[in-house]
Amino acid sequence: MENLEITELPIPDITDNEVLVKVKAFSINPVDIKTRLGRGQASRLKEYNPIILGWDISGVVTKTGKSVTSLKKDDEVFGMVNFPGHGKAYAEFVAAPGSHLTLKPANISHEEAAAASLAALTAWQILKEKVSIKPGERVLIHSAAGGVGHFAVQMSKYLGAYVTGTSSGMNRDFVLSLGASEHIDYEEQTFEAVLKDIDFVLDTIGGDYIDRSLKVLRPGGTIISIPSGAAESVSDKAHAKGFNGDTFRVQSDGRNMKEIADLLEKGIVKSYISKVFSFDDIHAAHRQIESGKTKGKIVVAF
Ligand SMILES: NC(=O)c1ccc[n+]([C@@H]2O[C@H](COP(=O)([O-])OP(=O)(O)OC[C@H]3O[C@@H](n4cnc5c(N)ncnc54)[C@H](OP(=O)(O)O)[C@@H]3O)[C@@H](O)[C@H]2O)c1
Repeated sequence: MENLEITELPIPDITDNEVLVKVKAFSINPVDIKTRLGRGQASRLKEYNPIILGWDISGVVTKTGKSVTSLKKDDEVFGMVNFPGHGKAYAEFVAAPGSHLTLKPANISHEEAAAASLAALTAWQILKEKVSIKPGERVLIHSAAGGVGHFAVQMSKYLGAYVTGTSSGMNRDFVLSLGASEHIDYEEQTFEAVLKDIDFVLDTIGGDYIDRSLKVLRPGGTIISIPSGAAESVSDKAHAKGFNGDTFRVQSDGRNMKEIADLLEKGIVKSYISKVFSFDDIHAAHRQIESGKTKGKIVVAF
C-alpha cells in the first residue's frame, strides 16, 4: 500500500511529562488515511518524515516521567495522543503526555477504549463544550453510523436532545439503537425536504452538505463542519443567512477523556467496533476506512 510500511524501531524514550504505554489496541480514523496520502496532518508533520501514523491508544503504563503525578506504572490508560501533532500511535510502545490520557474503566476492553478516543473526543468537545447542547434541542447528526456519528448520537441523547441521524438504510436500526428518535436514509430521502427547525447540525461530510444543512436550521441555529478542506466556507455561508457556523478540530485533552471514561463506565456511551484487525493487517484496516462505509469504529489489537 502507498506510504504505509511496517518496520522495527527502538522503544521510545519519554520526557518528564510523558508516560510509556505498552499498547494493547489502537484505532484507525479517516485522518490517518488522509495523512498517509499527504493531506490531513501531513504538512504539519513534514519535518518528521517518515512519520509513525495514528493517535488513538489504549494500553498499560510501563514507565512514568518524573513530572507525571496522575498516572503510575501498571495503570490501564487510553486517550488521543498529541493531536494535532505527531501521535506515533501505530506502535507497540507509545510515549504519551500524561495529560492526554485517562484511566481506562475496568468494565470496558482496550479495543472499546481505543475506539472511544479521537472520534468520541471530537463528538464530546463539539456537543458539550463548543455548542453546549441543551435538553430539548433538535440535533441532526450526519454519518450517524460512523466513528464520530455513532458517539455523537449517543452523547446528544445523553445531553437531552431530540436526535435525527442520517445513514444508509442498511444502518437504520443501528442508528435508532444508539438513541436517535428519527432516521433519514440518505439514499432514499432528501433530508432538507423532511426536516426543519433544527437547533444544531453536525456536518461530517462537507461540500453541498453545508448548503443543504443550512436549509433545515431554525433562525439562529448552528452548524459545525468537521471534514478538513471542504468545510472552510461554512462560517461565511452560515453567517450570511443569520446562522452560526464554524469548523472544528479536536484537541488532545485528558480532562475530556476522563469525562468520556465516566460515560463509558456507566454504559451511557458504548463503542461499537465493527472489526478488529491484527497489526499485520493494517493495510486492510486502511482500505476499510477508505471505503467510507465503516459502521462504528475499527481497531487494531495486539
Ligand atoms: N475536525 C476534526 O477534528 C475531525 C475529527 C474526527 C473526524 N473528522 C472528519 O469527519 C469525517 C467523519 O469521520 P468519521 O470517523 O466519522 O468517518 P467514518 O467512520 O469513516 O464514517 C463512515 C460512515 O459515514 C457514513 N456515510 C457515508 N456517506 C454518508 C452520507 N452521505 N450521509 C450519511 N452518512 C454517510 C457511512 O454510513 P453508511 O455506510 O450507512 O453509508 C459510514 O457509517 C471525516 O472526514 C474525518 O476526517 C474531523
